Amino acid sequence: MRQKILIATNNLNKIREIQNILSDFDLITPQELGIDLEIEENGNTFEENAEIKAESFCKASGILSLADDSGLEVECLGGEPGVHSHRYCPKPDATDADRRAFLLENLKGKPRPWKARFYCAAALCDPKSSEIQLVHGICNGEIIPEERGNGGFGYDPIFWIPERGMTLAEMSENEKNEISHRGAAMRKIREILKKKDV
Ligand code: IMP
Repeated sequence: MRQKILIATNNLNKIREIQNILSDFDLITPQELGIDLEIEENGNTFEENAEIKAESFCKASGILSLADDSGLEVECLGGEPGVHSHRYCPKPDATDADRRAFLLENLKGKPRPWKARFYCAAALCDPKSSEIQLVHGICNGEIIPEERGNGGFGYDPIFWIPERGMTLAEMSENEKNEISHRGAAMRKIREILKKKDV
């Protein structure tokens, strides 16, 4: 029987994208395993947070676990929101739309282009050895002041890819995965999984 891989996140958008990128593997979600884990992401880097998540889900499930920690880094904001991308808006119960609005508020008056990148660290934790392997992927672009497109999630509607002339939210899921930080990191994970003969 093929070894199952747990997607170590409760974020449904990430789960959907990872399922699409690694569709030829036997993936399973925390919900399908009845695992309900809320993990405090208190690392200082994307890598640390990805490791924390992969290890916690691996311990809870006993199966190979794949975590993603990702976020947006804006050059003229000194790399913010960075690891705080999800908690970036002070408003209680802030939504993705609130976070985009807060980011644009902070960029007001700063000269354009607002160069930015998405960063994704992916960690794979093996229950047999407890070994964790880390990879990362980057997607370069810029922030634009008006939203475009309905696809994707998070900051996608304001993340412009100059070479494509569209935002990540205007792309199909396959197009986004081809160029995204998550796509790049997960393709490296694919190579690791192949070597492990998963
Ligand atoms: P995490 O769960 O701490 O990794 O939170 C990542 C946060 O970064 C998300 O909630 C989004 O706000 C943002 N983010 C990460 N990846 C993407 C992406 O592919 N598109 C848009 N926003 C993203």
